[in-house]
Amino acid sequence: MGLPIAVECEGVIKEFGSGSTKQRVLHGIDWQVPLGATTFLVGPSGCGKTTLISIISGLLSATAGRVWVLGKETTKMRKGALVRFRADHLGFIFQQFNLLPSLTAVENAAVPLVVQGSTLASAKRQASGLLDRLGLEKNKWKYPNQLSGGQQQRVAIARALVHNPRIVISDEPTASLDAETGHEAMQLMREVASGPDRAVIVVTHDTRIFEFADYLATMFDGRIESFRQNTPSESSH
Ligand SMILES: Nc1ncnc2c1ncn2[C@@H]1O[C@H](COP(=O)(O)OP(=O)(O)O)[C@@H](O)[C@H]1O
Ligand SMILES: [Mg+2]
Repeated sequence: MGLPIAVECEGVIKEFGSGSTKQRVLHGIDWQVPLGATTFLVGPSGCGKTTLISIISGLLSATAGRVWVLGKETTKMRKGALVRFRADHLGFIFQQFNLLPSLTAVENAAVPLVVQGSTLASAKRQASGLLDRLGLEKNKWKYPNQLSGGQQQRVAIARALVHNPRIVISDEPTASLDAETGHEAMQLMREVASGPDRAVIVVTHDTRIFEFADYLATMFDGRIESFRQNTPSESSH
């Protein structure tokens, strides 16, 4: 074996629809995502990136194939065990931020800790500190509809990191951030989520943050076309 593995996909197929409208979106993905690294998944719109990370996250079931996360086969887990596993080990940043509109920024960012059993007070304290680091100290008591897109995205990033998950999975995390805030967000993600037994997976088109990639996977039409170490010459600044 080479590097220790965060996520392994074996023959993952995904089809949507049935009968004449059936569409095969993933054509048998074999992929190993290493621990101790930040891996970027890039590829044109519609090639299946969100579908693949949704299956890895256990939010969508595969039509066929197997997935292991941190050595556990999630495609075999029952619903309850999968929910618990996700809550303990994974953090997500979705393309749509999925913030709860009736909760403040601090409360939204605190949710994963409360789900894990922290008291509300301690969860909010930790969430609040993280939001400060993301430049939201003045806005953290506001509700999502009172925040800009970029601010909402930072709340979503804080929510993904607050419970210190071993794997952070994010879909276009910097899409609505300016260059500086995008860098800060990536730095924080790397800081909180890197370490020899941790991994960050980022789906992105944002070449401004490519320097944060240790590995680059390129996807095209439902297949991983290449997977390689990122070299400095490919990075922008
Ligand atoms: N829930 C769904 N039902 C039907 N088709 C879907 C669904 N989700 C995604 N697709 C289709 O799967 C393909 C891949 O989508 P997606 O994974 O979102 O691509 P990407 O994230 O790379 O832009 C697209 O053709 C999209 O229309
Ligand atoms: Mg997508």
